[in-house]
Amino acid sequence: TLRVLTGITTTGTPHLGNYVGAIRPAIAASRRAEVESFYFLADYHALIKCDDPARIQRSRLEIAASWLAAGLDPDKVTFYRQSDIPEIPELTWLLTCVTAKGLMNRAHAYKAAVDANLAAGEDADAGVSMGLYSYPILMAADILMFNAHQVPVGRDQVQHIEMARDIGARFNHLFGAGRDYFVLPEVVIEEQVATLPGLDGRKMSKSYDNTIPLFEGGAKRLRDSILRIVTDSKAPGEPKDAENSHLFAIYRAFADAEESAAFRRELEGGLAWGEAKQRLFERLDAELAPMRERYEQLIARPAEIEDILQAGARKARAIATPFLTELRAAVGLRPMR
Ligand code: TYM
Repeated sequence: TLRVLTGITTTGTPHLGNYVGAIRPAIAASRRAEVESFYFLADYHALIKCDDPARIQRSRLEIAASWLAAGLDPDKVTFYRQSDIPEIPELTWLLTCVTAKGLMNRAHAYKAAVDANLAAGEDADAGVSMGLYSYPILMAADILMFNAHQVPVGRDQVQHIEMARDIGARFNHLFGAGRDYFVLPEVVIEEQVATLPGLDGRKMSKSYDNTIPLFEGGAKRLRDSILRIVTDSKAPGEPKDAENSHLFAIYRAFADAEESAAFRRELEGGLAWGEAKQRLFERLDAELAPMRERYEQLIARPAEIEDILQAGARKARAIATPFLTELRAAVGLRPMR
């Protein structure tokens, strides 16, 4: 069997980028007979960026309902909340002790924070918590705990998966004694949509406030968001540059090759941006509307979602608990009583 694993941080409303980068490919993978999949709500990760408990709880519910509405089958997938698996922070510690500080110095998220501080004339590490600094180690623990072979993610996560490989290899080297405790994970990226742009053309991201929500707010919010996509000022009738249009990039992530080619021809033939936005809305809504209906039912029944997550945590811990016992022994700790 092939193990596939991925997670989403519970700090906001799921958006189209999360859907095309992680949810959609992960659900497609989970339907393959040979695949055993592990999908989770990364709520320990959420604490790094968010100190608002109500927001984390709401986000967790929305992300869980989104996965289920998008077609995740909780009987087939191990679907859980990261914070229900105490083995993960314990493994994080074992891994922290074998991770070079220099490796963490190179992490993009940390470097971006340092660069922004220096540009603002502040101390390099101002506002950087140890959580942010060692974020990739927690993520390595998520992945290595379940010996995932493949991790479907958007391009922004590639470096983290590479770090998980480095950390896992280091542990194997130090403690393996002929046995590889950890599988070294591979990243899986959908080339077509590796980074979905947001309203302003930058990467669609909670932190840029340029997202199109996947289900929240219904068809109206979807349409209103699409109307806010920034375009150039070419008039109706003037040919549009599809290749450099993020409106087209979003369309392409939701259409097959033939539909995309047809839309491109229309844009190049002078389709008005207003009309193009209407087409994009129709294309997205055709895929999302049936799921949105399930989403609205699910989000109104949090107790059902809770039951599903608890069952998922039991399945996940049935793997994590004995594996952690082996790892504790490998480094010289006693079994947990
Ligand atoms: P997060 O919550 O930022 O994003 C969740 C997933 O959505 C993808 N994504 C995108 N893909 C394409 N285009 C975009 N504009 C876009 N925006 C977001 C992300 O690449 C990601 O796959 N650290 C992770 C969560 C995590 C995790 C893990 C993932 C924790 N542990 C273990 C995989 C394996 C994160 O913050 O993703």
